[in-house]
Amino acid sequence: MFHRKTMLMPNVKKILFFLFLAGLLQTVHAQRTTKLLMKDWKFSQVDTQAAQLTTFNDGGWRVLDIPHDWSIEGNFAKEHSSTFNQGALPTGVGWYRKHFNLPAKGGPQQVQLNFEGVFQRADVWINGHLLGRHNNGYVSFKHDITKYLNSTGNNVIALRVDNAAQPNSRWYTGSGIYRKVWLDISSQTFIDPWDLFVQTKVEENGNAVVEMSAMVSNFSGEKKNLKLVHEIQDAVGRAVATGKPIALALSAGKTPVRGMLKINNPILWCPSSPYLYQSVLKVFEKDKLVDVIQTKLGIRFFAFDPKDGFSLNGKHFLIQGVCNHHDLGAIGAAVNSSAIKRQLKLLKDMGCNAIRTAHNPPSVELLDLCDSMGFLVMDELYDTWAKKKNKFDQSIDFKNDYRFDVENWIRRDRNHASVFMWSIGNEIREQFDSTGSSYARELTALVKSLDATRPVTSALTENNPSKNFIYQSGALDVLGFNYKLGDYKALPSRFPGSSFVAAETASALSTRGHYDFPSDSFRVWPSDSKSTKHGNPDNTVSAFDHVYAYWGNTHEKSWLAVKQNPHMSGAFVWSGFDFLGEPVPYQWPSRSSYYGIVDLAGFPKDVYYMYQSEWTNKPVLHLFPHWNWQEGRKIDVWAYFSQADEVELFLNGKSVGIRTKNDSTLHAMWRLEYLPGQLKAVSRKNGKTVLESIIQTAGKPDRIVLKAELSNLSIASNELGFVEIAVVDANGIPVQTADNAINLSVQGVGKLAATDNGNPVELTPFHASTKQLFNGKLLAILKTSGSKGKITIEASSPGLKPAKLILNSH
Ligand code: GAL
Repeated sequence: MFHRKTMLMPNVKKILFFLFLAGLLQTVHAQRTTKLLMKDWKFSQVDTQAAQLTTFNDGGWRVLDIPHDWSIEGNFAKEHSSTFNQGALPTGVGWYRKHFNLPAKGGPQQVQLNFEGVFQRADVWINGHLLGRHNNGYVSFKHDITKYLNSTGNNVIALRVDNAAQPNSRWYTGSGIYRKVWLDISSQTFIDPWDLFVQTKVEENGNAVVEMSAMVSNFSGEKKNLKLVHEIQDAVGRAVATGKPIALALSAGKTPVRGMLKINNPILWCPSSPYLYQSVLKVFEKDKLVDVIQTKLGIRFFAFDPKDGFSLNGKHFLIQGVCNHHDLGAIGAAVNSSAIKRQLKLLKDMGCNAIRTAHNPPSVELLDLCDSMGFLVMDELYDTWAKKKNKFDQSIDFKNDYRFDVENWIRRDRNHASVFMWSIGNEIREQFDSTGSSYARELTALVKSLDATRPVTSALTENNPSKNFIYQSGALDVLGFNYKLGDYKALPSRFPGSSFVAAETASALSTRGHYDFPSDSFRVWPSDSKSTKHGNPDNTVSAFDHVYAYWGNTHEKSWLAVKQNPHMSGAFVWSGFDFLGEPVPYQWPSRSSYYGIVDLAGFPKDVYYMYQSEWTNKPVLHLFPHWNWQEGRKIDVWAYFSQADEVELFLNGKSVGIRTKNDSTLHAMWRLEYLPGQLKAVSRKNGKTVLESIIQTAGKPDRIVLKAELSNLSIASNELGFVEIAVVDANGIPVQTADNAINLSVQGVGKLAATDNGNPVELTPFHASTKQLFNGKLLAILKTSGSKGKITIEASSPGLKPAKLILNSH
């Protein structure tokens, strides 16, 4: 969100441009610098208190770059205290140390050390001084370290990260410094980015008012007279509104400042056209520029209505959302913008327009991408308040930390166009007692004191108003309800005047590429809270949309219920992607979830196309399952289709029948006896063919095929190369059932970061370079070594023709 320049040159250009516009003449001086601290951290898992000392010798420690997640580097094991519910990976304690020098200074400066996410319980020292303990593993935090720094010599940050007490979560958390760390170096009069709030309002006449409020810090020890100039630029950097200079007399500490600008006929932000302006705030001291703070700005307005649901920019808008945890599959929690972008691209293509960040504040990278790619974000803080769900979870710190957590959460995220709701908690146990009311009121009041422009919600389970104390607090602006779709209809009469969103739906289960028959019989796994007798012996779950946990329902029924109840503003499906941990309906050896519309490796499951057929206007025709069965077996064939009245299925050229859709079903089904050959579906509208889809019986695996999603990897933005590995038969037909073990080797200026086949029961570690295809697919994730050149990946397997692919690192 906040763009601070690491180099002086681009700033100078912009400033000169501004000065030219403002008609002022002056020299440009020191401004703020962002110094990312990503490279060459020292790391050890020996828990030595002496490591906090400046004099400690860390020469023997491992050297690594952050973001770093030490759990994902480990092997899966039943014995890990985090259990299969958290991914069956190691946790424990880790120490980090980072040596750095400050950039040469051009005058007195102020330095803040920013951590965007450390999991968890981080004790931080700078040059041997304890800065404090930060408990929450998702909330960003920072410290002013100015007074402890050596301005010329070496400085050392030491961190003890404690993720040892287990279990402490209901999902995989990751361990370590898994988000960015940076120094924010400014002059002694400056604006902390978290002290800036830029709000927008769209007036009846269509013009926008931009209200800026900020705190100007003065640590210089003297009184200062400053001038501030606020400007809004369009997407290509042209000024569209420039305020008159605001004069400010500062004493020590923080002084508030406000300003207002108008933008005539603004281009509005929305998911299909995420137009971003930029707010630029400049601070001058005696005509010398001392600080510039830039933040992207989206202008949009929205409302929730008890009867009609949600509207964005004055038009009805159905929230087509998914819930996602923060892990990125095989690379774990270690944040990477290109990995998030890959997920968001897939979701965008499916027609998804909103993300719920279950159940914690997301990375800055996710919010930046949601701003620019166009997703609404329900930004969530907690999974527990004071009452626990796991022995060592967040509830331990709640009472001490919630004020601090709320403050950092809102101040960091409130300038993002994508964020449209604050969720103060998921399925909080205090729903059921009176403390739920007092906490809900207090948390909401804290949120509103920092941002009164967005509604506050909570994802509730109890939909009987007399039993729900969070609802009774009266604090929530929007009621989020998880599951219980049979009750949607009754919500307006039970909660008169309230607005609703289906904060969580489905909890339907599937393994990509696995099919059980008959497809029209439902499996409720588990069927109740005590059930242990369910599931398949090999821990698979059928990918026809007919398996779900007892508190949920199929994707299809869940979505139909939202569609049929216009007071529901939309839904957040549980879940967009499979994630590590929570492998309901199974336990070990399963170690990742079955809930995803997309599997852990990023391969869509069939139901992806159901959502695509409902959530987009593009014609869809998705035919499944694969066509390699035992002869004579009764097989159900499904198709998801849209923009067509009917679909006809042909087996080896002979019609199997025509199917249409009605209001109670979102798929077509045929039951037929298997014969090898070709299955073809044709969708038609008014008798004209819209799409054709063909699946063929595959012969023996013959050759490996590689496909890169991105073939040029940017070093500067740390882009990862995602390579899909599959096999085809001698005729080039994909073998969707293949499970060959593939050996991968990577040469050139890159290496293999991880492999994953999307199988929740796969116990070969993510760092392995040999892995089996799972139902025909495997993913390799490559990373550049930081030099320009070629990265070659080769894939081989006994009995198969090998394949090779070249990516560029630039
Ligand atoms: C919900 C919960 C989610 C996840 C889901 C699985 O009740 O909020 O975090 O556990 O169930 O079905």
